[in-house]
Amino acid sequence: MISHHSSYHGATLGALALTGYTPLASAFDPMMRPMPKIPDPRAYLDHLDANDEATGHYYADMLEDRILAEGPETVLAFIVELVGDASTGALVPPASYMKRIREICTKYGVLLIHDEVMSGGGRTGKFFAAEHWNLAPDILTISKDFTAGYVPLGAMVARNDIVENVLDMGDFLHGYTYAGNPLACAVGLAVLDKIERKGMMDNATKVGAELKAGLQGLMELHKIIGDVRGIDLFLAFELVSNRKTLKPLPRNLNA
Ligand SMILES: Cc1ncc(COP(=O)(O)O)c(C=O)c1O
Repeated sequence: MISHHSSYHGATLGALALTGYTPLASAFDPMMRPMPKIPDPRAYLDHLDANDEATGHYYADMLEDRILAEGPETVLAFIVELVGDASTGALVPPASYMKRIREICTKYGVLLIHDEVMSGGGRTGKFFAAEHWNLAPDILTISKDFTAGYVPLGAMVARNDIVENVLDMGDFLHGYTYAGNPLACAVGLAVLDKIERKGMMDNATKVGAELKAGLQGLMELHKIIGDVRGIDLFLAFELVSNRKTLKPLPRNLNA
């Protein structure tokens, strides 16, 4: 499985092998089976224009190169956060990136997994962030906003033909003590109902625009804010010591 460096997909051994965040992973290196990584599409830090079609293709083509280098028959899937979480600070991929990624995965029979654990559930103004690009994955993951954080609930959603294949091969035998927990599912349903009835996704768009404008105002006041980015209520700003070099602030400042 191929993923981004930087990225966050979880802390259990399998998910950690996909997570591209060295300080977290290094203690477990001896136990992990390392998975290949490609750079996240950090146009801002590379001084590239994220709206230029060539920029998205430049980063997406690194996936094709990596699939070819590994041997397409050895690559099961590519996993990607639609809007990056803490590892990249709400990184939104360049405009043409995800479409090209979808094409490459389809071309080589590599499953495309959208990790919507952080970006799904409404905070980007759509239930799935992928809707901003009008794209469908083969598999997706969702959690967090799914229950508004009141109880733990996460889900993996896959295309019917993938699920049917697994069932035909003898069912999905991985079980957990709390899998399908009725309390968690009831809270999940109640949250989904509230998100819809209260128009919370539209609200995320409205309030997100206010928050973004506020952060952009701060950027005018403070030179250490180099970038304000994200979609609707999934926002971050980047702290830099210098807006030209985009160098981070010294670590000892603990910014
Ligand atoms: C994008 C993303 N994927 C996966 C995970 C892992 O989820 P969990 O902590 O439930 O294993 C997280 C958790 O923060 C996340 O932000």
